[in-house]
Amino acid sequence: PKRIAILISGSGSNLQAIIDHQKSHSDLYEIALVISNRPNAYGLVRAQNAGITTKVIDHTEYESRESFDLQLQSEIDAVNADLVVLAGFMRILTPTFTKHYLGKMLNIHPSLLPKYTGLHTHKRAIEAGDLKHGLSVHFVTPELDGGPVILQAEVDIEPKDNEASLAEKVHIQEHIAYPLVVEWFVKGNLSLKDNQAWLNQSCLNTPVLL
Ligand code: GAR
Repeated sequence: PKRIAILISGSGSNLQAIIDHQKSHSDLYEIALVISNRPNAYGLVRAQNAGITTKVIDHTEYESRESFDLQLQSEIDAVNADLVVLAGFMRILTPTFTKHYLGKMLNIHPSLLPKYTGLHTHKRAIEAGDLKHGLSVHFVTPELDGGPVILQAEVDIEPKDNEASLAEKVHIQEHIAYPLVVEWFVKGNLSLKDNQAWLNQSCLNTPVLL
């Protein structure tokens, strides 16, 4: 099985979706390590409950992004990860780090990229009067939230929606989309080629509701 490392900062509901998916795909991959930059992230509890090794690398204890990223890299490489999955990991990564994992690191972002990179995406989509919002799963490149998009899922913004209700709708779709993309990658059906996401044709017929 392939080995994946998952980086989190918070609640870890996307981590949970991947933990649940992995249980029925243990021949394909294992979650070798979960790292949080925040000691009190609830996702650490989720990982521990699933018997997964966890590490806290608290960014406040590092004097530079470079030294923090070097520590992240050494922990990830120590478990021989084939794939790094950013699941609500809220730190900007240095170009050196992103280049080290180029083509082997995924991120999920709560907007229909290229719209709304960065923070507060749900609020910004509502304030802009958008009718559609959603999520993007993409390869990580040095440009923040700028790497090639692999999969997007849309949700409707309804008049009654607020930031919380919209975030919840997006979360439901994220929990379907992210495990699916991880599965594609570990099966060898997804890769980064010429700065584009390359997907095996067979994946496009995947019968999921997105
Ligand atoms: C998710 O909605 C994810 O898209 C977002 O953080 C949330 C984490 O939720 N990621 C970003 O904003 C990355 N810039 P979770 O901790 O419950 O998985």
